[in-house]
Amino acid sequence: MVNTDELLAHCISLSNPEGFDDPRRGKVRDVYALPGDKLAIVSTDRISAYDHILGEPIPCKGQILNLMAAWSLRQVQDIVPVHLIEVPHPNITIAKKCSPIAVEVVVRGHLTGHAWRQYQKGLRSVSGAAMPDGLREFDPFPEPIITPTTKAEAGHDEDISAEQIVASGLISEPVWKKISQTALQLFERGRKIAASRGLILADTKYEFGFNGQTLTLIDEIHTPDSSRYFYQEGFDELRAAGKAPVQLSKEYIREWLRENGFTGQPGEVMPQLPDEIRLNVFQKYARLYEQITGEAFTPVITPDFDYTLAAVLNKFMA
Ligand SMILES: Nc1ncnc2c1ncn2[C@@H]1O[C@H](COP(=O)(O)OP(=O)(O)OP(=O)(O)O)[C@@H](O)[C@H]1O
Ligand SMILES: [Mg+2]
Repeated sequence: MVNTDELLAHCISLSNPEGFDDPRRGKVRDVYALPGDKLAIVSTDRISAYDHILGEPIPCKGQILNLMAAWSLRQVQDIVPVHLIEVPHPNITIAKKCSPIAVEVVVRGHLTGHAWRQYQKGLRSVSGAAMPDGLREFDPFPEPIITPTTKAEAGHDEDISAEQIVASGLISEPVWKKISQTALQLFERGRKIAASRGLILADTKYEFGFNGQTLTLIDEIHTPDSSRYFYQEGFDELRAAGKAPVQLSKEYIREWLRENGFTGQPGEVMPQLPDEIRLNVFQKYARLYEQITGEAFTPVITPDFDYTLAAVLNKFMA
């Protein structure tokens, strides 16, 4: 097993392979265009919370995310075409380049996060989706609901209803119908897989794009960055006692930030993540990977990641 000093020292914050132009950098991924309408998507160890990239990277987070997304995408290929082509390195996915649809398709099976904050204010709908009365935080909805948001270029994603999506011309009605049906099928599959591993997939987010005329599932799915998971064991007992379920997701870091005075509001100072917290987050991500895939997570240390990345990119440049 690799020691923790080595893990902390070999984080990938920013990829910068020699001889290549700057990639499109998202909060977590660096995306390189390749010939033949392909992309090399590099999952870095950056972590974002409350729409801010934190100052310190999380050991192995990129690998875990990338491998878990690839594993999960392979489980749903019978439902919808996926962008995944191959994984030449644990941090890198080669994908079909798609024109992204500018909507994040959020599916919620339980009342938590943003939906719970709206509910607490007395609202009984989120993004136009109705929520019944009488629910407590973390309770399941009678049926999963779709609560889309816009995909803002910068800043905060906003709630948008299915009606607004279609009326604004963002997505045509038949395409939205296909997307929403597909999202519910994907969520059902994700829940089934999670349930078989003793977990509850509470909510998640999907992104779609067009590869030519083909609606395609892009980005990451069913990862700890895009989803909330609860442990099934003890869930009912904790709920009966009015307590929060045990979560396996990014919630841990959000909580730590909240305790340290940061919720992404203007004027707040982002605290520095101590190594201990970075390692705790790593362990939580690794545990979720192992629980979902049923495989041990073995960290791969790449001494010179930029050199390795350049070699991978060059292979696809020909
Ligand atoms: N197959 C694909 N074709 C085109 N774009 C893709 C594909 N897969 C993922 N993307 C886009 O690549 C980016 C991945 O980067 P990342 O997840 O770090 O971004 P983000 O911070 O979530 O979002 P944004 O880039 O919008 O700020 C996302 O914008 C995602 O929509
Ligand atoms: Mg993303």
